[in-house]
Amino acid sequence: MPQSDPNSDETFDFVVNNGNGIKGLVDAGIETVPQLYTVPIDERLEPNKIITHGSIPVIDVSDWDDPKVKESICEAAAECGFFQIINHGVPLEVLDAVRESAHRFFGLPNEERSKYWPVNSPTDTVVLTTSFAPQAETVFEWKDALTMRFGPHQYRESVPLWPPVCRDEVLEYGESAKPVVRKLMEILLKGLKVKEIDKAREYELMTASIVTINYYPRCPNPDLTAGIFPHSDASIITVLLQDDNGGLYVRATDGNGWIHVPPIDGAFVVNIGDMLQIMSNDKYKSIEHRVVANGSKNRVSVPVFVTPRMDAVIGPLPEAIESGEQPLYKKVVCGDYFRHHFGKKHDGKKSLEFARI
Ligand code: OGA
Ligand code: NI
Repeated sequence: MPQSDPNSDETFDFVVNNGNGIKGLVDAGIETVPQLYTVPIDERLEPNKIITHGSIPVIDVSDWDDPKVKESICEAAAECGFFQIINHGVPLEVLDAVRESAHRFFGLPNEERSKYWPVNSPTDTVVLTTSFAPQAETVFEWKDALTMRFGPHQYRESVPLWPPVCRDEVLEYGESAKPVVRKLMEILLKGLKVKEIDKAREYELMTASIVTINYYPRCPNPDLTAGIFPHSDASIITVLLQDDNGGLYVRATDGNGWIHVPPIDGAFVVNIGDMLQIMSNDKYKSIEHRVVANGSKNRVSVPVFVTPRMDAVIGPLPEAIESGEQPLYKKVVCGDYFRHHFGKKHDGKKSLEFARI
């Protein structure tokens, strides 16, 4: 650990080495924010950095085939990198059920949760982690996360090993989100002149997707902490379900402020990830975002990270640069990009430099 504060070493041991996570720390009854979670003043989201006059687009996708819907999606991907979709067809009950199951999992006693800590987990398709990259961080994020992999390696065989309190709900949520993901991918790739997503492309780009349950326990002093530091997602796209607490902020396009993503019941928040920015040769933008911890309630969110296979080679799509543009990125093996991204703390959009020419 890079820090020297002995209290932080103790906190690190409790949270990481002993598999308690931030939820374990909160359950232990802490009433102040530990040093390890205290964010330097200049990295906090001060109220004067929040832009109240801006908003991200909300797109009604009840008719996916409507050319206006397609246009709005591609335009939002190019301009803001973030949008919400409503009337996507995934029933509210499925969304409610997965949120409730998230609270059930994180409401388990610590010894039950820690069965899924990386060193204990019965399968690599489910893993419980804390913060983002604890071995590389001096300040931790106020967040635990349970991640479930949907493929490609025979995940169904390992589903019986997932936590019984949430496995059916996560499975149903993940499966129900698939057609939405497919539609979004089809529209976004068509916007880059890709004619069709054939089976081989689908297998390469989408089969390694991940569903994560993010859990941000109530924080005694949210102003001092970060739920998630500013970052972009390494995914192709992320389709996220939030709850009614709010707290997700997106970097404004002029770079100077942060825009809140207001909770809309039943909506998905969609954002472009680094992989799609690379594939699109910068036509679509993977935008920084961050989460503020909540002072009164436990918050959950359930992103689906649409992720290529680890051996997929990602670079600007030939269709996206067919009119003779210079490629801005080299080809990278997806697994190499992820190892780079997940090996360091969240740091804005720095990961993209790994692939930039
Ligand atoms: C993420 C993320 C936002 C949220 O998990 O990468 O940005 O609202 N989550 O939890
Ligand atoms: Ni994110």
